[in-house]
Amino acid sequence: MTVQTATPRSFAASPPLLGKIAIPGDKSISHRALMLSALAVGTSRVTGLLEGHDVLATAAAMRAMGATIERREDGEWIIDGVGVGGLLQPKGALDMGNSGTSTRLLMGLVASHPITATFVGDASLSGRPMGRVIDPLAQMGADITASPGGRLPLMVRGLAPAIPLSYRLPMASAQVKSAVLLAGLNTPGITEVIEPVPTRDHSERMLKGFGADLTVELGADGTRHIRIFGEAELRPQTIVVPGDPSSAAFFIVAALIVPGSDVTIANVGLNPTRAGLVAVLQAMGGDIALLEAREVGGEPVADLRVRHSALKGIDVDPAIAPSMIDEFPILFVAAALAAGRTTTTGLDELRVKESDRLAVMATGLRAIGARVDETADGLVIDGTGGDPLPGGATIAGHLDHRICMSFAVAGLASKAPVTIDDIAPVATSFPNFETLLAGLQA
Ligand code: S3P
Repeated sequence: MTVQTATPRSFAASPPLLGKIAIPGDKSISHRALMLSALAVGTSRVTGLLEGHDVLATAAAMRAMGATIERREDGEWIIDGVGVGGLLQPKGALDMGNSGTSTRLLMGLVASHPITATFVGDASLSGRPMGRVIDPLAQMGADITASPGGRLPLMVRGLAPAIPLSYRLPMASAQVKSAVLLAGLNTPGITEVIEPVPTRDHSERMLKGFGADLTVELGADGTRHIRIFGEAELRPQTIVVPGDPSSAAFFIVAALIVPGSDVTIANVGLNPTRAGLVAVLQAMGGDIALLEAREVGGEPVADLRVRHSALKGIDVDPAIAPSMIDEFPILFVAAALAAGRTTTTGLDELRVKESDRLAVMATGLRAIGARVDETADGLVIDGTGGDPLPGGATIAGHLDHRICMSFAVAGLASKAPVTIDDIAPVATSFPNFETLLAGLQA
């Protein structure tokens, strides 16, 4: 057994952040690019792939199930797929590390293949609920044995042919939607997901891009009916992964709250199902300009120019939550420096992310001197009106990359440094976070 020692890191009051950065590739799209390429017949090429630990866990799992996946020296990834239906029995357990997306989407793939796979993960992932994917996949015929509470480690014994399903999502989750659609790839007939609240639609876009027969129909009440016709055949693709808006978020807020800052973030994905944070920060008075709007890899993209701004608190409409579900931790930091009160509601899903992000953010923000009330489904924050936070505390990151980066950014606008107890989790989604920050401070 390897014993990993924690790497604490302190973040102190920052000089103005100035300059231009390019953030790494989108995590959601990177996972899907590897999975779908690994299921296509032939050779796919991916540039801009996020090389964070979460995505590398997906790559390792797809290799363990038969795909050939290589990274060229110039950073391009070359994937030779096995074809839908062609996944091989993995020899050992699939180690998902910290990654809920890898786990839930791959469970969907295994569910309709005639193979058995065991999924294991770190302490954070092993505490997260998998019942939400176990339920629909079991209805499709997969035999799933989970640890108590529907947690990891768990074993999926796939069924081929699986049974097509029409499934109404009980919570807003792109991972659950994607797990069912991916199971539907190798399932004869029509597998349908009914989505009452729209969530990120990368799976739909990319499945179509790879040639799957997939339709999206809008019901009279606004529900989305997504149908995939199996068994599908996927054609190899050349994919350019746009920059991750969820990673850009940390530098957007950093530039807004550090006085004198003027930062341009290049190539930020602005798919409407992901772009909620930009709209909310603009409504708070954030100076964020969208430059050179264009398309990259079938996704809307722009460069964002962000300047230090006097933010004011707002009531965040819960309807926007799914389009910024990963951005609430950093939004809470922005709210802690805004003038007046910011209220958020409808965020129960934050309690089952890499950590309980409502509880962990409330505790950490209070420790650095912010005024925060935690409710059942949100936080109420009374901001400083732009004055720096007191800071001067050590924050427990709870193996949650977005918690670590949120408090790193809070440290940049605090009187006394903010220390993160272990900075290592940042590498799951944003390996060069600290390097980019140092570049903007230089
Ligand atoms: C993701 C969906 C979201 C998000 C996660 C990535 C995806 O999770 O929080 O970081 O790539 O499908 P949920 O489906 O649990 O909302």
